[in-house]
Amino acid sequence: MRVARKLHIVTWGCQMNVYDSNRMADVLAPLGYASVPSPDDADMIILNTCHIRELAAEKLFSELGRLRSLKDARERRGERLVLAVAGCVAQAEGAEILARAPYVDLVFGPQTYHRLPEMIARAARDGGPVIDTDFPAEPKFDYLPRTAARPSGGLTAFLTIQEGCDKFCSFCVVPYTRGAEASRPAAAVIAEARRLVAEGAREITLLGQNVNAWHGDGPDGSRWGLSRLIRELAGIGGLLRLRYTTSHPRDMDDGLIAAHAEVPQLMPFLHLPVQSGANRVLAAMNRRHTVDDYIDIVARLRAARPDIALSSDFIVGYPGETEIDFEATLRLIREVRFAAAFSFKYSPRPGTPAASATGQIAEPEKDRRLQALQALLREQQAAFNASCVGRVLPVLFTGHGRHPGQIVGRSPYLQPVHVSAEAGAFEALIGEERSVTIAASHTNSLSAIINEERLRA
Ligand code: 5AD
Ligand code: SF4
Repeated sequence: MRVARKLHIVTWGCQMNVYDSNRMADVLAPLGYASVPSPDDADMIILNTCHIRELAAEKLFSELGRLRSLKDARERRGERLVLAVAGCVAQAEGAEILARAPYVDLVFGPQTYHRLPEMIARAARDGGPVIDTDFPAEPKFDYLPRTAARPSGGLTAFLTIQEGCDKFCSFCVVPYTRGAEASRPAAAVIAEARRLVAEGAREITLLGQNVNAWHGDGPDGSRWGLSRLIRELAGIGGLLRLRYTTSHPRDMDDGLIAAHAEVPQLMPFLHLPVQSGANRVLAAMNRRHTVDDYIDIVARLRAARPDIALSSDFIVGYPGETEIDFEATLRLIREVRFAAAFSFKYSPRPGTPAASATGQIAEPEKDRRLQALQALLREQQAAFNASCVGRVLPVLFTGHGRHPGQIVGRSPYLQPVHVSAEAGAFEALIGEERSVTIAASHTNSLSAIINEERLRA
């Protein structure tokens, strides 16, 4: 009989880390590990980390400090708590983690978690910490369980189709932590998507650091790009919605833009990071596109799909960024109009070219620019939400709202949408997509009326 063990995973960072955490749970299930929501009585705790900006590493060490007391207390009771650090901080700073926190049992990067059973056995046998930050020759996906051990029923699911990056933007650690760009074969992606839909997923978000660079051999032997894959996945019965993230402007090809016009399941919402609105900063960042290239892509997307909304990532205070450069970024934002955005102060990452570049910007100046940028982006987000009022939108209902008799779903633009009803009346709607009319916009959500309901009233 399998021993029942409790596993607690903490996930920081991007959606790919969320996907990886789920797959770690799948790998550990045959060993008897079941996920629990609290670290308190867990037999194993995994911190799945993010290295993209410096605060994440500090968060790791303060969390480890807390977990150390938990581990000590368990050991005093004669019990064992396996403490593991996974993800991108583990990949980049494995040795430092073991030096600063020698009580950690396992340290492994994003490419080796399929080896977890072997690592756990080695740690138990040798007593010491085990570190595995290889970039193995075997792709981990070939060694992950084919079926999920987690309880199914997630209406919205992530599916990693591409990992790593060869673009080497000068600020970014990803090429070092996630490794070279690699695409999963089309057949494997299609099989996993079918499984997710069979388990209840109605919306799938395809994930990759450069997801639109995905390419592979299709079942017919020809070379597929992301647009061809999307068309294939859209044919899976029961799959209502598709998204993909994160894209690079250079890989936004005509076929993919056309897919936004032609594939109804593809949601009209695209996250397309631009980082800066100044050509000299873009060049220094090694982005290999100009501001005009970006504006041209946006124009072509809007021509293909007039109701498409955009989100983006911005970095302020990149080394050498002048006030004039910064103002060019504000101008680009005003020109494009974003529905949502993430914005960050430039954070020097060890080993990246920008970290040692001249012209580093002082922290208070970065703060000032970030606040000005975020004020503009908040304004645009509020304007976008307000512009949804009165629109008819499809909403995929995913669960109960915070108030009784309320259900919540997501719009094509990932806005939470609340609908009120007599208690229980809309139970059957969870998992369904319905046309609603947006009645009001709030800070972080919309409220709406279901159109059929309104027609009946
Ligand atoms: N400093 C600040 N922001 C960064 N990002 C990536 N690296 C850095 C860095 N060194 C941001 C970029 C990227 C997003 C995921 O994180 O905007 O698109
Ligand atoms: Fe963080 Fe980037 Fe790694 Fe995702 S890929 S976990 S955002 S460093």
